[in-house]
Amino acid sequence: MQDILEQLEDKRAAARLGGGQKRIDAQHGKGKLTARERLELLLDEGTFEEWDMFVEHRCTDFGMENNRPPGDGVVTGYGMINGRLVFVFSQDFTVFGGALSEAHAEKICKVMDQAMKVGAPVIGLNDSGGARIQEGVASLGGYADVFQRNVMASGVVPQISMVMGPCAGGAVYSPAMTDFIFMVKDSSYMFVTGPEVVKTVTHEEVTAEELGGATTHTTRSGVADLAFENDVEALLMLRRLYNYLPLNNREKAPIRPSADPAARMDLSLDTLVPENPNKPYDMKELITKTADDGDFFEIQPEYAKNIIIGFARMEGQSVGIVANQPLVLAGCLDIKSSIKAARFVRFCDAFNIPVITFVDVPGFMPGTSQEYGGIIKHGAKLLYAYAECTVPKITVITRKAYGGAYDVMSSKHLRGDVNFAWPNAEIAVMGAKGAVEIIFREDKGDPVKLAAKEAEYKARFANPFVAGARGFIDDVILPHETRKRICRSLVMLKDKKLENPWRKHGNIPL
Ligand code: COA
Repeated sequence: MQDILEQLEDKRAAARLGGGQKRIDAQHGKGKLTARERLELLLDEGTFEEWDMFVEHRCTDFGMENNRPPGDGVVTGYGMINGRLVFVFSQDFTVFGGALSEAHAEKICKVMDQAMKVGAPVIGLNDSGGARIQEGVASLGGYADVFQRNVMASGVVPQISMVMGPCAGGAVYSPAMTDFIFMVKDSSYMFVTGPEVVKTVTHEEVTAEELGGATTHTTRSGVADLAFENDVEALLMLRRLYNYLPLNNREKAPIRPSADPAARMDLSLDTLVPENPNKPYDMKELITKTADDGDFFEIQPEYAKNIIIGFARMEGQSVGIVANQPLVLAGCLDIKSSIKAARFVRFCDAFNIPVITFVDVPGFMPGTSQEYGGIIKHGAKLLYAYAECTVPKITVITRKAYGGAYDVMSSKHLRGDVNFAWPNAEIAVMGAKGAVEIIFREDKGDPVKLAAKEAEYKARFANPFVAGARGFIDDVILPHETRKRICRSLVMLKDKKLENPWRKHGNIPL
Protein backbone atom coordinates (compact mmCIF):
# COMPACT_ATOMS: atom_id res chain seq x y z
CA MET A 1 0.00 0.00 0.00
CA GLN A 2 2.72 2.42 1.03
CA ASP A 3 4.49 1.57 -2.19
CA ILE A 4 1.42 2.41 -4.28
CA LEU A 5 0.91 5.68 -2.43
CA GLU A 6 4.48 6.64 -3.10
CA GLN A 7 4.10 5.77 -6.77
CA LEU A 8 0.89 7.80 -6.85
CA GLU A 9 2.63 10.82 -5.38
CA ASP A 10 5.55 10.46 -7.79
CA LYS A 11 3.24 10.28 -10.77
CA ARG A 12 1.20 13.24 -9.60
CA ALA A 13 4.33 15.27 -9.01
CA ALA A 14 5.63 14.35 -12.47
CA ALA A 15 2.32 15.29 -14.08
CA ARG A 16 2.31 18.61 -12.24
CA LEU A 17 5.81 19.35 -13.43
CA GLY A 18 4.78 18.83 -17.09
CA GLY A 19 7.81 19.21 -19.33
CA GLY A 20 10.09 20.22 -16.44
CA GLN A 21 11.20 23.40 -14.73
CA LYS A 22 13.33 24.58 -17.65
CA ARG A 23 10.40 24.54 -20.01
CA ILE A 24 8.13 26.11 -17.40
CA ASP A 25 10.65 28.93 -17.08
CA ALA A 26 10.71 29.28 -20.86
CA GLN A 27 6.91 29.48 -20.87
CA HIS A 28 7.02 32.23 -18.22
CA GLY A 29 9.79 33.91 -20.19
CA LYS A 30 7.37 34.31 -23.09
CA GLY A 31 4.91 36.06 -20.78
CA LYS A 32 2.69 32.98 -20.71
CA LEU A 33 1.29 31.07 -17.75
CA THR A 34 1.44 27.28 -17.59
CA ALA A 35 -1.59 25.10 -18.30
CA ARG A 36 -2.21 24.59 -14.57
CA GLU A 37 -1.68 28.21 -13.58
CA ARG A 38 -4.27 29.16 -16.17
CA LEU A 39 -6.82 26.75 -14.75
CA GLU A 40 -6.17 28.10 -11.27
CA LEU A 41 -7.10 31.58 -12.48
CA LEU A 42 -10.07 30.47 -14.54
CA LEU A 43 -11.77 28.31 -11.92
CA ASP A 44 -13.06 29.12 -8.45
CA GLU A 45 -10.35 28.42 -5.91
CA GLY A 46 -10.04 24.78 -4.92
CA THR A 47 -12.79 23.53 -7.24
CA PHE A 48 -10.69 21.85 -9.92
CA GLU A 49 -11.21 18.09 -10.14
CA GLU A 50 -8.53 16.73 -12.40
CA TRP A 51 -9.00 13.65 -14.55
CA ASP A 52 -6.55 11.42 -16.36
CA MET A 53 -3.35 12.55 -14.73
CA PHE A 54 -1.94 9.08 -15.42
CA VAL A 55 -2.71 8.89 -19.12
CA GLU A 56 0.39 8.33 -21.24
CA HIS A 57 0.88 8.29 -25.00
CA ARG A 58 1.32 4.94 -26.73
CA CYS A 59 3.86 5.94 -29.39
CA THR A 60 6.94 3.77 -29.74
CA ASP A 61 8.61 5.49 -32.70
CA PHE A 62 11.54 7.91 -32.65
CA GLY A 63 12.48 7.04 -29.07
CA MET A 64 9.11 8.16 -27.75
CA GLU A 65 8.79 4.96 -25.70
CA ASN A 66 11.42 6.42 -23.35
CA ASN A 67 9.55 9.64 -22.80
CA ARG A 68 6.05 9.25 -21.44
CA PRO A 69 5.19 12.16 -19.16
CA PRO A 70 2.03 11.43 -17.16
CA GLY A 71 -0.90 13.50 -18.40
CA ASP A 72 0.52 13.70 -21.93
CA GLY A 73 0.45 17.43 -22.52
CA VAL A 74 -3.10 18.33 -21.58
CA VAL A 75 -4.71 18.99 -18.20
CA THR A 76 -8.40 18.04 -18.14
CA GLY A 77 -11.29 17.89 -15.71
CA TYR A 78 -14.06 20.04 -14.30
CA GLY A 79 -14.54 22.82 -11.81
CA MET A 80 -16.67 25.84 -11.06
CA ILE A 81 -16.84 29.40 -12.31
CA ASN A 82 -18.72 31.53 -9.81
CA GLY A 83 -20.24 28.33 -8.43
CA ARG A 84 -21.38 26.99 -11.81
CA LEU A 85 -20.07 23.79 -13.36
CA VAL A 86 -17.68 23.86 -16.30
CA PHE A 87 -15.55 21.26 -18.06
CA VAL A 88 -12.08 22.31 -19.07
CA PHE A 89 -9.01 21.25 -20.95
CA SER A 90 -5.77 23.17 -20.91
CA GLN A 91 -2.95 22.24 -23.26
CA ASP A 92 0.50 22.13 -21.70
CA PHE A 93 3.07 23.61 -24.07
CA THR A 94 5.90 22.38 -21.85
CA VAL A 95 5.10 18.76 -22.83
CA PHE A 96 5.98 18.13 -26.48
CA GLY A 97 4.93 21.69 -27.29
CA GLY A 98 1.36 20.83 -26.26
CA ALA A 99 1.19 18.67 -29.40
CA LEU A 100 -1.91 16.54 -29.71
CA SER A 101 -1.39 12.77 -29.53
CA GLU A 102 -4.04 10.08 -29.72
CA ALA A 103 -4.08 9.86 -25.90
CA HIS A 104 -4.16 13.67 -25.51
CA ALA A 105 -7.20 13.77 -27.83
CA GLU A 106 -8.90 10.99 -25.86
CA LYS A 107 -8.57 13.07 -22.71
CA ILE A 108 -10.24 16.03 -24.39
CA CYS A 109 -12.99 13.81 -25.82
CA LYS A 110 -13.68 12.36 -22.38
CA VAL A 111 -14.45 15.74 -20.82
CA MET A 112 -16.49 16.78 -23.85
CA ASP A 113 -18.59 13.61 -23.67
CA GLN A 114 -19.18 14.09 -19.96
CA ALA A 115 -20.05 17.76 -20.46
CA MET A 116 -22.74 16.78 -22.94
CA LYS A 117 -24.09 14.08 -20.63
CA VAL A 118 -24.48 16.40 -17.67
CA GLY A 119 -25.21 19.56 -19.66
CA ALA A 120 -22.33 21.91 -18.87
CA PRO A 121 -20.13 24.12 -21.04
CA VAL A 122 -16.65 23.21 -22.25
CA ILE A 123 -13.79 25.69 -22.15
CA GLY A 124 -10.60 24.83 -24.04
CA LEU A 125 -7.35 26.65 -23.37
CA ASN A 126 -5.30 26.09 -26.53
CA ASP A 127 -1.52 26.23 -26.57
CA SER A 128 -0.20 23.60 -28.93
CA GLY A 129 2.26 22.92 -31.73
CA GLY A 130 -0.45 20.90 -33.50
CA ALA A 131 -0.59 17.22 -34.36
CA ARG A 132 2.04 15.12 -32.52
CA ILE A 133 4.41 14.64 -35.43
CA GLN A 134 5.83 11.34 -34.12
CA GLU A 135 2.35 9.79 -34.10
CA GLY A 136 1.22 10.64 -37.60
CA VAL A 137 -2.28 9.62 -38.54
CA ALA A 138 -3.18 8.45 -35.00
CA SER A 139 -2.91 12.08 -34.00
CA LEU A 140 -4.97 13.26 -36.99
CA GLY A 141 -7.64 10.77 -35.99
CA GLY A 142 -7.57 12.30 -32.54
CA TYR A 143 -8.28 15.75 -33.99
CA ALA A 144 -11.20 14.45 -35.98
CA ASP A 145 -12.63 12.80 -32.86
CA VAL A 146 -12.54 16.19 -31.14
CA PHE A 147 -14.08 17.93 -34.20
CA GLN A 148 -16.96 15.46 -34.26
CA ARG A 149 -17.69 16.22 -30.63
CA ASN A 150 -17.47 19.97 -31.25
CA VAL A 151 -20.23 19.56 -33.80
CA MET A 152 -22.36 17.31 -31.60
CA ALA A 153 -22.02 19.75 -28.70
CA SER A 154 -22.80 22.79 -30.87
CA GLY A 155 -26.08 24.29 -29.69
CA VAL A 156 -26.24 21.78 -26.81
CA VAL A 157 -23.67 23.23 -24.40
CA PRO A 158 -21.74 26.48 -24.85
CA GLN A 159 -18.19 25.91 -26.08
CA ILE A 160 -15.51 28.55 -25.65
CA SER A 161 -11.94 28.53 -26.95
CA MET A 162 -9.16 30.59 -25.52
CA VAL A 163 -6.13 30.57 -27.80
CA MET A 164 -3.07 31.27 -25.65
CA GLY A 165 -0.20 30.10 -27.83
CA PRO A 166 0.25 28.45 -31.20
CA CYS A 167 -2.80 26.95 -32.89
CA ALA A 168 -1.97 25.93 -36.43
CA GLY A 169 -2.93 23.53 -39.17
CA GLY A 170 -5.79 21.16 -38.38
CA ALA A 171 -5.74 22.38 -34.77
CA VAL A 172 -7.57 25.57 -35.75
CA TYR A 173 -10.74 23.74 -36.66
CA SER A 174 -11.70 22.77 -33.16
CA PRO A 175 -11.78 26.39 -31.92
CA ALA A 176 -13.39 27.37 -35.22
CA MET A 177 -16.42 25.27 -34.37
CA THR A 178 -16.85 26.59 -30.85
CA ASP A 179 -19.13 29.49 -29.98
CA PHE A 180 -16.50 32.03 -29.03
CA ILE A 181 -12.78 32.34 -29.71
CA PHE A 182 -10.67 34.61 -27.55
CA MET A 183 -6.97 35.28 -28.12
CA VAL A 184 -4.07 36.76 -26.20
CA LYS A 185 -2.15 39.54 -27.92
CA ASP A 186 1.46 38.85 -28.96
CA SER A 187 1.56 35.29 -27.62
CA SER A 188 -1.11 33.51 -29.65
CA TYR A 189 -1.66 32.89 -33.31
CA MET A 190 -3.94 30.82 -35.48
CA PHE A 191 -3.45 29.90 -39.12
CA VAL A 192 -4.12 27.02 -41.46
CA THR A 193 -0.61 27.23 -42.90
CA GLY A 194 2.28 29.14 -41.33
CA PRO A 195 4.46 31.92 -42.76
CA GLU A 196 7.00 29.48 -44.26
CA VAL A 197 4.39 27.63 -46.30
CA VAL A 198 2.77 30.90 -47.32
CA LYS A 199 6.13 32.13 -48.59
CA THR A 200 6.71 28.99 -50.63
CA VAL A 201 3.26 28.87 -52.16
CA THR A 202 2.24 32.49 -52.66
CA HIS A 203 5.62 34.25 -52.25
CA GLU A 204 4.13 36.52 -49.62
CA GLU A 205 6.39 37.60 -46.75
CA VAL A 206 4.35 37.75 -43.57
CA THR A 207 5.09 37.26 -39.87
CA ALA A 208 3.14 34.83 -37.70
CA GLU A 209 1.64 37.80 -35.86
CA GLU A 210 0.51 39.49 -39.07
CA LEU A 211 -0.82 36.26 -40.52
CA GLY A 212 -2.76 35.00 -37.54
CA GLY A 213 -2.17 37.06 -34.42
CA ALA A 214 -4.91 38.30 -32.12
CA THR A 215 -5.14 41.69 -33.82
CA THR A 216 -5.46 40.13 -37.27
CA HIS A 217 -8.25 37.82 -36.22
CA THR A 218 -10.23 40.36 -34.21
CA THR A 219 -10.01 43.17 -36.78
CA ARG A 220 -9.54 41.64 -40.25
CA SER A 221 -10.70 38.05 -40.46
CA GLY A 222 -13.34 38.06 -37.74
CA VAL A 223 -12.20 34.55 -36.73
CA ALA A 224 -11.69 35.61 -33.11
CA ASP A 225 -14.11 37.55 -30.93
CA LEU A 226 -11.89 39.35 -28.46
CA ALA A 227 -8.18 40.00 -27.96
CA PHE A 228 -6.67 40.46 -24.52
CA GLU A 229 -3.40 41.95 -23.30
CA ASN A 230 -2.19 38.91 -21.37
CA ASP A 231 -3.21 35.55 -19.92
CA VAL A 232 -4.52 37.01 -16.67
CA GLU A 233 -6.83 39.55 -18.30
CA ALA A 234 -8.02 36.93 -20.79
CA LEU A 235 -9.00 34.41 -18.11
CA LEU A 236 -10.71 36.97 -15.90
CA MET A 237 -12.77 38.23 -18.84
CA LEU A 238 -13.67 34.66 -19.71
CA ARG A 239 -15.08 34.26 -16.20
CA ARG A 240 -17.14 37.40 -16.81
CA LEU A 241 -18.55 36.12 -20.07
CA TYR A 242 -19.42 32.82 -18.42
CA ASN A 243 -21.86 34.58 -16.09
CA TYR A 244 -24.08 35.58 -19.01
CA LEU A 245 -24.49 32.03 -20.32
CA PRO A 246 -26.75 29.15 -19.38
CA LEU A 247 -25.15 25.79 -18.71
CA ASN A 248 -26.91 24.15 -21.65
CA ASN A 249 -29.69 24.52 -24.21
CA ARG A 250 -32.45 23.38 -21.83
CA GLU A 251 -31.67 25.93 -19.15
CA LYS A 252 -31.95 29.66 -18.88
CA ALA A 253 -29.02 31.92 -18.11
CA PRO A 254 -28.57 32.70 -14.40
CA ILE A 255 -30.30 35.78 -13.02
CA ARG A 256 -27.97 38.25 -11.38
CA PRO A 257 -30.00 40.59 -9.17
CA SER A 258 -29.36 44.25 -9.78
CA ALA A 259 -30.23 47.35 -7.78
CA ASP A 260 -30.82 49.23 -11.02
CA PRO A 261 -34.61 49.93 -11.15
CA ALA A 262 -36.45 48.54 -14.14
CA ALA A 263 -38.37 51.79 -14.46
CA ARG A 264 -35.26 53.96 -14.45
CA MET A 265 -35.74 56.81 -16.94
CA ASP A 266 -32.88 58.36 -18.85
CA LEU A 267 -33.88 61.77 -20.14
CA SER A 268 -30.61 62.22 -22.00
CA LEU A 269 -31.83 59.60 -24.47
CA ASP A 270 -34.48 62.05 -25.68
CA THR A 271 -31.72 64.04 -27.37
CA LEU A 272 -29.52 61.14 -28.46
CA VAL A 273 -30.72 61.14 -32.07
CA PRO A 274 -29.75 64.38 -33.85
CA GLU A 275 -32.40 66.44 -35.66
CA ASN A 276 -30.49 66.05 -38.91
CA PRO A 277 -31.24 62.50 -40.13
CA ASN A 278 -27.83 62.27 -41.77
CA LYS A 279 -25.90 63.04 -38.61
CA PRO A 280 -24.52 60.03 -36.79
CA TYR A 281 -24.67 59.29 -33.06
CA ASP A 282 -23.23 56.55 -30.91
CA MET A 283 -25.63 53.64 -30.53
CA LYS A 284 -23.50 52.29 -27.67
CA GLU A 285 -24.79 55.16 -25.56
CA LEU A 286 -28.32 53.78 -25.89
CA ILE A 287 -27.11 50.28 -25.01
CA THR A 288 -25.23 51.26 -21.87
CA LYS A 289 -27.99 53.63 -20.73
CA THR A 290 -30.58 50.89 -21.15
CA ALA A 291 -28.76 47.90 -19.65
CA ASP A 292 -28.55 47.07 -15.93
CA ASP A 293 -25.85 49.20 -14.31
CA GLY A 294 -24.60 50.34 -17.73
CA ASP A 295 -22.85 47.02 -18.12
CA PHE A 296 -22.33 45.71 -21.65
CA PHE A 297 -20.05 42.81 -22.64
CA GLU A 298 -19.31 43.53 -26.26
CA ILE A 299 -18.31 40.74 -28.64
CA GLN A 300 -16.21 41.48 -31.73
CA PRO A 301 -15.91 45.20 -30.92
CA GLU A 302 -13.16 45.74 -33.50
CA TYR A 303 -14.72 43.87 -36.42
CA ALA A 304 -17.60 45.01 -38.66
CA LYS A 305 -18.16 47.96 -36.37
CA ASN A 306 -21.28 48.98 -38.27
CA ILE A 307 -23.12 46.44 -36.16
CA ILE A 308 -22.78 46.01 -32.40
CA ILE A 309 -23.32 42.67 -30.66
CA GLY A 310 -22.87 41.58 -27.07
CA PHE A 311 -24.43 40.59 -23.78
CA ALA A 312 -26.13 42.74 -21.19
CA ARG A 313 -28.69 42.24 -18.44
CA MET A 314 -32.18 43.62 -17.98
CA GLU A 315 -33.57 43.18 -14.46
CA GLY A 316 -30.84 40.63 -13.93
CA GLN A 317 -31.73 38.56 -16.99
CA SER A 318 -29.10 37.94 -19.69
CA VAL A 319 -30.00 39.39 -23.05
CA GLY A 320 -28.22 39.48 -26.39
CA ILE A 321 -28.01 42.93 -27.94
CA VAL A 322 -27.80 43.52 -31.68
CA ALA A 323 -27.64 47.14 -32.80
CA ASN A 324 -26.83 49.06 -35.96
CA GLN A 325 -24.07 51.61 -35.36
CA PRO A 326 -24.77 54.88 -37.24
CA LEU A 327 -21.20 56.02 -36.48
CA VAL A 328 -19.74 53.47 -38.91
CA LEU A 329 -20.84 53.26 -42.57
CA ALA A 330 -24.02 55.03 -41.41
CA GLY A 331 -25.06 51.71 -39.88
CA CYS A 332 -25.51 50.01 -43.28
CA LEU A 333 -25.64 46.24 -43.36
CA ASP A 334 -22.82 44.70 -45.35
CA ILE A 335 -21.36 41.21 -45.70
CA LYS A 336 -19.26 41.21 -42.55
CA SER A 337 -21.86 42.78 -40.28
CA SER A 338 -24.57 40.41 -41.52
CA ILE A 339 -22.45 37.37 -40.75
CA LYS A 340 -21.35 38.77 -37.40
CA ALA A 341 -24.88 39.45 -36.23
CA ALA A 342 -26.36 36.27 -37.72
CA ARG A 343 -24.03 34.03 -35.79
CA PHE A 344 -24.72 35.91 -32.58
CA VAL A 345 -28.51 35.73 -33.00
CA ARG A 346 -28.20 31.98 -33.58
CA PHE A 347 -26.10 31.60 -30.43
CA CYS A 348 -28.70 33.46 -28.37
CA ASP A 349 -31.50 31.42 -29.91
CA ALA A 350 -29.73 28.12 -29.23
CA PHE A 351 -29.18 29.05 -25.58
CA ASN A 352 -32.46 30.68 -24.60
CA ILE A 353 -31.14 34.22 -24.40
CA PRO A 354 -33.68 36.88 -25.48
CA VAL A 355 -32.56 39.15 -28.31
CA ILE A 356 -32.97 42.91 -28.16
CA THR A 357 -32.44 44.73 -31.44
CA PHE A 358 -31.84 48.46 -31.76
CA VAL A 359 -32.43 49.56 -35.33
CA ASP A 360 -31.10 52.51 -37.26
CA VAL A 361 -30.34 51.15 -40.68
CA PRO A 362 -30.39 53.00 -44.00
CA GLY A 363 -30.24 49.72 -45.95
CA PHE A 364 -27.76 47.26 -47.37
CA MET A 365 -24.41 48.57 -48.55
CA PRO A 366 -24.40 49.18 -52.31
CA GLY A 367 -21.44 48.44 -54.60
CA THR A 368 -19.70 45.87 -56.74
CA SER A 369 -17.45 44.60 -53.96
CA GLN A 370 -20.50 43.76 -51.87
CA GLU A 371 -22.43 42.20 -54.76
CA TYR A 372 -19.45 40.22 -56.03
CA GLY A 373 -18.71 39.18 -52.48
CA GLY A 374 -22.18 37.68 -52.19
CA ILE A 375 -24.09 40.18 -50.05
CA ILE A 376 -27.29 38.49 -51.22
CA LYS A 377 -26.29 35.22 -49.64
CA HIS A 378 -24.62 36.74 -46.58
CA GLY A 379 -27.37 39.26 -45.88
CA ALA A 380 -29.77 36.32 -46.08
CA LYS A 381 -27.93 34.73 -43.16
CA LEU A 382 -29.09 37.47 -40.83
CA LEU A 383 -32.61 37.34 -42.20
CA TYR A 384 -32.63 33.58 -41.76
CA ALA A 385 -31.21 33.80 -38.24
CA TYR A 386 -33.88 36.22 -37.06
CA ALA A 387 -36.66 34.34 -38.83
CA GLU A 388 -35.85 30.95 -37.29
CA CYS A 389 -35.18 32.44 -33.85
CA THR A 390 -37.81 31.49 -31.25
CA VAL A 391 -36.50 33.21 -28.12
CA PRO A 392 -38.16 36.49 -27.03
CA LYS A 393 -37.40 39.19 -29.58
CA ILE A 394 -37.78 42.87 -28.78
CA THR A 395 -37.02 45.55 -31.35
CA VAL A 396 -36.63 49.30 -30.96
CA ILE A 397 -36.37 51.43 -34.10
CA THR A 398 -34.57 54.59 -33.08
CA ARG A 399 -34.44 56.29 -36.47
CA LYS A 400 -34.14 54.74 -39.91
CA ALA A 401 -35.50 51.37 -40.90
CA TYR A 402 -35.33 51.37 -44.64
CA GLY A 403 -35.98 48.79 -47.29
CA GLY A 404 -35.05 45.14 -46.99
CA ALA A 405 -32.93 46.00 -43.97
CA TYR A 406 -36.15 46.99 -42.15
CA ASP A 407 -37.46 43.48 -42.72
CA VAL A 408 -34.20 41.85 -41.65
CA MET A 409 -33.68 43.68 -38.36
CA SER A 410 -36.06 41.63 -36.22
CA SER A 411 -39.19 43.09 -37.78
CA LYS A 412 -42.71 42.10 -36.77
CA HIS A 413 -42.90 40.00 -39.92
CA LEU A 414 -40.05 37.79 -38.67
CA ARG A 415 -42.03 37.04 -35.52
CA GLY A 416 -40.73 39.97 -33.51
CA ASP A 417 -42.63 39.78 -30.22
CA VAL A 418 -42.56 43.44 -29.29
CA ASN A 419 -41.63 46.08 -31.83
CA PHE A 420 -41.27 49.65 -30.62
CA ALA A 421 -40.36 52.81 -32.49
CA TRP A 422 -39.11 56.12 -31.19
CA PRO A 423 -41.15 59.15 -32.32
CA ASN A 424 -38.66 60.22 -35.00
CA ALA A 425 -38.45 56.74 -36.57
CA GLU A 426 -38.62 56.61 -40.34
CA ILE A 427 -39.91 53.28 -41.54
CA ALA A 428 -39.97 53.35 -45.32
CA VAL A 429 -38.69 51.75 -48.49
CA MET A 430 -35.91 54.31 -48.64
CA GLY A 431 -35.02 57.88 -47.66
CA ALA A 432 -37.26 60.66 -49.03
CA LYS A 433 -34.62 62.08 -51.37
CA GLY A 434 -33.85 58.80 -53.09
CA ALA A 435 -37.52 57.89 -53.28
CA VAL A 436 -38.49 61.17 -54.98
CA GLU A 437 -35.61 60.95 -57.44
CA ILE A 438 -37.00 57.64 -58.62
CA ILE A 439 -40.74 58.22 -58.64
CA PHE A 440 -40.53 61.74 -60.04
CA ARG A 441 -37.71 61.12 -62.48
CA GLU A 442 -39.35 63.36 -65.10
CA ASP A 443 -38.98 66.35 -62.74
CA LYS A 444 -35.21 65.90 -62.55
CA GLY A 445 -34.55 69.43 -63.89
CA ASP A 446 -36.98 71.11 -61.52
CA PRO A 447 -35.38 71.31 -58.07
CA VAL A 448 -38.26 73.34 -56.61
CA LYS A 449 -40.82 70.73 -57.59
CA LEU A 450 -38.55 67.94 -56.39
CA ALA A 451 -38.07 69.62 -53.02
CA ALA A 452 -41.84 69.92 -52.64
CA LYS A 453 -42.29 66.26 -53.51
CA GLU A 454 -39.54 65.31 -51.08
CA ALA A 455 -41.28 67.22 -48.30
CA GLU A 456 -44.54 65.52 -49.22
CA TYR A 457 -42.93 62.08 -49.19
CA LYS A 458 -41.29 62.80 -45.87
CA ALA A 459 -44.53 63.96 -44.29
CA ARG A 460 -46.31 60.89 -45.58
CA PHE A 461 -43.75 58.17 -44.88
CA ALA A 462 -40.87 59.40 -42.68
CA ASN A 463 -42.64 58.61 -39.44
CA PRO A 464 -43.64 55.58 -37.40
CA PHE A 465 -47.36 55.89 -38.04
CA VAL A 466 -47.68 54.18 -41.41
CA ALA A 467 -46.11 51.05 -39.90
CA GLY A 468 -48.10 51.64 -36.71
CA ALA A 469 -51.37 51.75 -38.64
CA ARG A 470 -50.70 48.22 -39.83
CA GLY A 471 -49.61 46.94 -36.44
CA PHE A 472 -46.05 46.42 -37.70
CA ILE A 473 -44.93 48.29 -34.62
CA ASP A 474 -46.75 47.83 -31.35
CA ASP A 475 -46.17 51.26 -29.87
CA VAL A 476 -44.33 54.51 -30.27
CA ILE A 477 -42.32 55.05 -27.11
CA LEU A 478 -40.36 57.97 -25.77
CA PRO A 479 -36.62 57.36 -25.77
CA HIS A 480 -36.26 57.93 -22.03
CA GLU A 481 -38.67 55.08 -21.22
CA THR A 482 -36.89 52.50 -23.38
CA ARG A 483 -35.48 50.54 -20.44
CA LYS A 484 -38.81 50.35 -18.67
CA ARG A 485 -40.67 49.19 -21.76
CA ILE A 486 -38.07 46.54 -22.59
CA CYS A 487 -38.08 45.23 -19.01
CA ARG A 488 -41.86 44.97 -19.00
CA SER A 489 -41.81 43.18 -22.35
CA LEU A 490 -39.28 40.68 -21.04
CA VAL A 491 -41.50 39.92 -18.05
CA MET A 492 -44.44 39.37 -20.39
CA LEU A 493 -42.29 37.08 -22.57
CA LYS A 494 -40.83 35.07 -19.71
CA ASP A 495 -42.66 31.88 -20.58
CA LYS A 496 -42.83 32.37 -24.34
CA LYS A 497 -43.22 29.12 -26.24
CA LEU A 498 -42.74 28.92 -29.96
CA GLU A 499 -41.58 25.96 -32.00
CA ASN A 500 -40.44 25.65 -35.56
CA PRO A 501 -41.74 22.73 -37.65
CA TRP A 502 -39.86 19.43 -37.34
CA ARG A 503 -36.99 19.05 -39.79
CA LYS A 504 -33.62 17.38 -39.86
CA HIS A 505 -32.06 20.82 -40.10
CA GLY A 506 -32.67 23.99 -42.05
CA ASN A 507 -30.47 25.02 -44.93
CA ILE A 508 -29.15 28.43 -43.91
CA PRO A 509 -27.44 30.14 -46.89
CA LEU A 510 -23.76 29.48 -46.13
N1 COA B 1 4.81 17.38 -32.43
C1 COA B 1 5.73 16.97 -31.55
N2 COA B 1 6.51 17.79 -30.85
C2 COA B 1 6.34 19.11 -31.04
C3 COA B 1 5.41 19.62 -31.95
C4 COA B 1 4.62 18.69 -32.65
N3 COA B 1 3.67 19.10 -33.51
N4 COA B 1 5.46 20.96 -31.93
C5 COA B 1 6.40 21.28 -31.03
N5 COA B 1 6.95 20.18 -30.51
C6 COA B 1 8.00 20.10 -29.51
C7 COA B 1 9.32 20.57 -30.05
O1 COA B 1 9.98 19.49 -30.67
C8 COA B 1 10.02 21.05 -28.80
O2 COA B 1 10.52 19.93 -28.13
P1 COA B 1 11.86 20.06 -27.21
O3 COA B 1 11.54 21.05 -26.16
O4 COA B 1 12.04 18.70 -26.69
O5 COA B 1 12.94 20.51 -28.12
C9 COA B 1 8.90 21.61 -27.97
O6 COA B 1 7.71 21.02 -28.49
C10 COA B 1 8.76 23.09 -28.04
O7 COA B 1 8.76 23.48 -29.41
P2 COA B 1 9.68 24.64 -29.97
O8 COA B 1 9.71 24.47 -31.46
O9 COA B 1 10.97 24.67 -29.25
O10 COA B 1 8.82 25.92 -29.54
P3 COA B 1 8.69 27.29 -30.29
O11 COA B 1 7.92 28.16 -29.38
O12 COA B 1 10.02 27.76 -30.76
O13 COA B 1 7.82 26.98 -31.60
C11 COA B 1 6.01 26.01 -32.88
C12 COA B 1 6.49 26.53 -31.51
C13 COA B 1 4.60 25.48 -32.69
C14 COA B 1 6.00 27.15 -33.90
C15 COA B 1 6.95 24.92 -33.40
O14 COA B 1 7.17 24.00 -32.36
C16 COA B 1 6.44 24.20 -34.59
O15 COA B 1 6.56 24.68 -35.70
N6 COA B 1 5.87 23.00 -34.38
C17 COA B 1 5.37 22.16 -35.44
C18 COA B 1 4.06 22.66 -35.95
C19 COA B 1 3.51 21.67 -36.95
O16 COA B 1 3.93 21.62 -38.07
N7 COA B 1 2.56 20.84 -36.48
C20 COA B 1 2.04 19.76 -37.23
C21 COA B 1 0.94 20.13 -38.15
S1 COA B 1 -0.61 20.41 -37.36
